[in-house]
Amino acid sequence: MAEVLFDAQSVTDAVTNGIANIENASTSEELKAVKSEVIGVLTQASKAIGKLPADQKKDAGKLMGQLRADFGRAFGAKESAVKAQEEAAALAAETVDMTLPVTRRPLGARHPLSRVIEDIEDFFVSMGWQISAGPEVETEWYDFDALNFGPDHPARQMQDTFYVKGNQATDAAGFVGSNMVLRTQTSSDQVRALLTRGVPLYIACPGRVFRTDELDATHTPVFHQCEALAVDKNLTMADLKGVLDKLAVAMFGPEAKSRLRPSYFPFTEPSAELDLWFPDKKGGPGWIEWGGCGMVNPNVLKSAGIDPNVYTGFAFGVGIERTLLLRHDINDMHDLVEGDVRFSEQFVMGE
Ligand code: DAH
Repeated sequence: MAEVLFDAQSVTDAVTNGIANIENASTSEELKAVKSEVIGVLTQASKAIGKLPADQKKDAGKLMGQLRADFGRAFGAKESAVKAQEEAAALAAETVDMTLPVTRRPLGARHPLSRVIEDIEDFFVSMGWQISAGPEVETEWYDFDALNFGPDHPARQMQDTFYVKGNQATDAAGFVGSNMVLRTQTSSDQVRALLTRGVPLYIACPGRVFRTDELDATHTPVFHQCEALAVDKNLTMADLKGVLDKLAVAMFGPEAKSRLRPSYFPFTEPSAELDLWFPDKKGGPGWIEWGGCGMVNPNVLKSAGIDPNVYTGFAFGVGIERTLLLRHDINDMHDLVEGDVRFSEQFVMGE
């Protein structure tokens, strides 16, 4: 490299220029680049001082000291400003908002059947009735015998009923050797409730029941019913009809009402099919079968040790799936049993 002569003007210009560049720099990188350029010039100039005639060295040294100090000050001030800016930017970029919601597992939704059951329970509780829950694996005695089903009744056949293999129960009520079945109806809770709670009795028993049906659009081997039983003095069919109409309104709105058609059940006399007036039925309003009902057969009261000359009762049973299908215009039973949360989520509103 050619020997550089000390040139006070050009060092001063280089430093002045360097200070201007420092002012304009906006990152540490740019500052560093300007600094090494100016340091380079200053180092060269310092070396060149050595070659100056002795009488000029002092002024040159003074100038150099001055230039170094000017540049150092400008650089120092700008460096701390840029560092502070860069730190603030880094902090802003790395900030974690502690108030943001965390990613949770998606929430499920309650099954609409549970909600209908609660609505039905609310209806009965609002009238001062009790809610009773019997076992799903039941003795044949409670499911059939105590309810006046004869030994040859078709409901007792294997085609209709799930028997529990090799299980002979000794029931609390002392019925040794009764077969166990998956209860076919919530009516099985009638005599159990009469025995354990006594009379007068006003109970509703919502729950799961089982029959050997195939799963299709309108059947499922596991479904739900709600049984209602009232036993007291002086109860008549008018009381039954009044409760049914009120339940229809509670489930389906102010236009709903019930209708009774003569029928037969072993545990009621007289017995009736229970129809529901359904204003929103597809193809226009009309009657739809909803369940069964009647006045409690005296033999059922006797099974529970209650004198049928003193007490009378009424009972009814409605299908809960049927209630739900009608209420929400659902056409396929599969939707109720598949457990797809997207189905249940449709019913979350108004929860
Ligand atoms: N248990 C009957 C069934 O599953 C429904 C029923 C009919 C219940 C008449 C009752 C009743 O309480 O009185 O088909």
